[in-house]
Amino acid sequence: MQATQTIWHNGKYKPWAEATTHVMAHALHYGSSVFEGIRVYEKEGRPVGFRVREHMQRLFDSARVYRITIPYTLDELVDACHGVVSRNDLNSAYLRPIAYRGYGSIGLAPKDDLPVDVAVAAIEWGAYLGEEAREKGARVCVSSWQRVAPNTIPAGVKAGGTYLSSQLISMEAHRLGYDEGLGLSADGTLSEGAGENLFLVKNGVLITPPQASSILAGITRDTVIRLAHAMGFEVREQALSREALYTADELFLTGTAAEVTPVASVDDLDIGCGSRGPVTQRIQDAFFGLFSGDTEDHFGWLEPIAADRAATDRVASAS
Ligand SMILES: Cc1ncc(COP(=O)(O)O)c(C=O)c1O
Repeated sequence: MQATQTIWHNGKYKPWAEATTHVMAHALHYGSSVFEGIRVYEKEGRPVGFRVREHMQRLFDSARVYRITIPYTLDELVDACHGVVSRNDLNSAYLRPIAYRGYGSIGLAPKDDLPVDVAVAAIEWGAYLGEEAREKGARVCVSSWQRVAPNTIPAGVKAGGTYLSSQLISMEAHRLGYDEGLGLSADGTLSEGAGENLFLVKNGVLITPPQASSILAGITRDTVIRLAHAMGFEVREQALSREALYTADELFLTGTAAEVTPVASVDDLDIGCGSRGPVTQRIQDAFFGLFSGDTEDHFGWLEPIAADRAATDRVASAS
């Protein structure tokens, strides 16, 4: 990972190397963190954040489920997002806000002395599954590891501990020579990729597993659903069998990191033409068009990053 200069940590802008935490921090031992991934794109030479507030709202929602009280407001954390982009002189970035149980008592159930630490980092990050996959499609496999069952760990919450499941799926896929792994839910229906939602195209209809299929309800997934509706596509959220993968006309993955990535093959079976399909290409064009200006931002998803540092100092100076 390429370090940037400045990280926002517990209300202060600090040099990258000083934004550290104690080895006895609760989150390090028990996975008790909640986090987000947010992209900032360069549009007309200026950085614009993509659906920053929705991501931050999801951070607060994730924290609520685990009863983690974030000691900042949503506006303050949005300011911190702006601040790390402008202070690091970035025109495009991947932002990583995280709230985690810090250093205090070691017991599982957190006591009052346990702080909640919060940070927002900004890094430069290109295509998650590679430039080639973005053009030609990724090679994926169905994992032998299933997603977490709904009554175990909530898959709809973006918490650090949940990503042990994603790591098993992704590591197995890489070990076997694939770009990414897909998880089945506990009932054997399709769930999602290790870090992406899944869309299938069949007879011109877009189909994606519902929230009940142990998915994280992705903000990119929602973006694609809305763009596809606006383009006149029918979109269904429905439970899907594993075999539906192998007989799909097209498949693609969505996520903040993966953006919109076509799937070329699953378990070594070519999907459609074995490359990016025409519907996927139209969805990809509409998505990336938001940042080139070819797609109108009807939903108000883009947020210009404040160039003025003072505007992002609200929380830094308050602490
Ligand atoms: C497990 C999982 N599913 C889906 C997604 C896609 O979510 P989003 O589009 O909000 O980034 C992600 C990425 O954050 C993820 O980690």
